[in-house]
Parts: sequence; C-alpha cells; structure tokens
Amino acid sequence: MADQAQGLRELAREKNVGNDGNGSGEKPNSSCRILTVTSGKGGVGKTNIAANLAIAFAQAGRQTLIMDADLGLANVNVILGLIPPPKYNLSHVVGGKKKIQEIITNGPAGIRLIAGATGVTEVANLSQDERDEFVLGLSSLADSIDYLIFDTGAGLSPNVLSFVLAADEIILVTTPEPTAIADAYGMVKAVCHHNIEANIKLVVNRVSSVIEGKKVADRIVNIAGQFLNIRVEVLGYILEDNLVIKSVRQQKPFFLAYPRSKAAYGVAHIMAKLIQSPETEPGNGNGLHGFFKRLLGS
Ligand SMILES: Nc1ncnc2c1ncn2[C@@H]1O[C@H](COP(=O)(O)OP(=O)(O)OP(=O)(O)O)[C@@H](O)[C@H]1O
Ligand SMILES: [Mg+2]
Repeated sequence: MADQAQGLRELAREKNVGNDGNGSGEKPNSSCRILTVTSGKGGVGKTNIAANLAIAFAQAGRQTLIMDADLGLANVNVILGLIPPPKYNLSHVVGGKKKIQEIITNGPAGIRLIAGATGVTEVANLSQDERDEFVLGLSSLADSIDYLIFDTGAGLSPNVLSFVLAADEIILVTTPEPTAIADAYGMVKAVCHHNIEANIKLVVNRVSSVIEGKKVADRIVNIAGQFLNIRVEVLGYILEDNLVIKSVRQQKPFFLAYPRSKAAYGVAHIMAKLIQSPETEPGNGNGLHGFFKRLLGS
C-alpha cells in the first residue's frame, strides 16, 4: 500500500504540470474536479466510499475537500471521527454570518470538510447579486482544491438529483442486492432523462469477489446501454470487509485504520483509476463556478 501511494503521489504531481492547456504551467481555477457520490438505494456505502476516497486522494498528494450534501442525515464527520461535529455549514455563509474559509474543518490526512450543504437550497431565495457573490466566494476555493467530493443522500429526491446533475462526474454506488441494482438503474434513468451526456461511473460495493462485482456491473452497463443509450463506465469493486464495519464503530476511516484491508485496496484502485482517467474537459465542467451555477440554476 505504501509503495502504491508513493507511485500515485508522483503520478499526481506529473499530472499537475502544464495542466492548464495554455502552456503557462499554472493551474487554472477550472481544474478542480467535482465528483458526486450517490446511489439509488440507501445504506450501500456512499459515505464510507466518499470519505475514504477523499483520504486516498489526499495521500496521493491531491488537495481534497469533501462536502456533506446529504441534507437529511449528514454524517461524513462521524465516519471521519470529527467529534464534536463542525458548528458551521453553508447556511452560515448564505446567511452572511461566516466566510467560506471559516466553515472549512480540517480532517484526517490533510483533507478538508464542509460539514453540511444545507444552506444551498436557501441560496435560491437570495437576490441575483447576493447569489453571484456567493457563487464567486465558493469559486475562490477552487484555487486550493484539486478534488471536491460530494456525499449525497440516497434516492431520487430533487435535492439529491440537483447535486448529481451539477457534478462533473457521478460516482454511482450499488451493492449486488437486486433491490440496490434496480434502484441504481432508476438513478441512471433519472440522470439520463435530464442529461444524456452525463458522466456516470459505477462502483459495486460489498461484493464477495471481483467476479461477482463484474457480473453486477455488466448487467447495469448493458441495460443502460440497451434501453437508455447511455454509457456507464465501471470504476471498480469493493469487497465485503468486516474491517469496514469495525472502522465505522471505531469512527476511524478504514483507509487510515486498516490500510491493508480488502476495502482499502478497492478504494486505492478506484482513486488510481480516477487520477489516470482523462479529467473532465474544462469547457464542460468549468470547475466550482460552473458546478454551483448548474446547481443553483443561475
Ligand atoms: N465494503 C463493505 N464491507 C462491509 N460493510 C460495509 C461495506 N461498505 C459499507 N458497509 C456497511 O454499510 C454501512 C452503511 O454504509 P454508509 O453509511 O457508507 O452507506 P450510505 O450509502 O452512505 O448510507 P445512507 O444512504 O444512509 O447515506 C456501514 O456502516 C458499514 O457497516
Ligand atoms: Mg451516507
């Protein structure tokens, strides 16, 4: 694991050189890559994957911010062992009580956390000027972030869907359970209804073997291709692992507490695949600014 992390750090450094597309060698605002972790069915492992993936990116030398976009049951801080929970969230920024930098909490392995995105829905009630100011404030964050990971709640509520549709890339999590597969397909369908070009990447969690994971993934990829004409990419598999359950009880992310666990291995693979895959075209994503403009429909 240590060697793998070292290799990935070097890869990450190489990828940051001349990443601006204009030859200046400086990182543009728009290079912040936005991933939203979601699922159809609840309890399939989104929060664990989002939190441990954030740590994996950080260990590979990437500046990573995780934002809890589960507007109902925000609990990323619990998985990360941040107790007591951070006091402030986006609603304090929207209300003008705090600046964006003041609501960011430091988490393990150098990751940063915004505890809740509750305030985002309130932004809709702001005047256009206030809204623009809010979006600009958030965009200023982009300079210091390589990866922004949103952890959403499950299901097809408008709130979840708006985060999913605003992301550059959607990490869709399922387990091999037939109900989870059906609901994952439901999510693909809902996304594709709004955006046929959406970039959906699938993770099959809690598999008994890679072969099982592959079978589940193939099923979803084939049905999505056949009936919805949408390409779902397979990002990876995470094995069923008692150390995940143990780490949740201990409130220590398994990537740190059990770096040699089967689950950590799966997460490391997923992180490596994301780093190696071509990043979203800046013109499509437009980083944080584009994300919040899409999210808020302004
Ligand atoms: N790979 C795994 N092996 C074993 N258990 C796992 C694994 N992944 C997740 N779990 C179990 O599933 C539980 C739920 O995980 P998690 O909270 O990450 O799911 P979630 O999708 O975020 O749930 P919600 O929809 O409620 O937000 C964990 O507490 C853990 O017990
Ligand atoms: Mg969750």
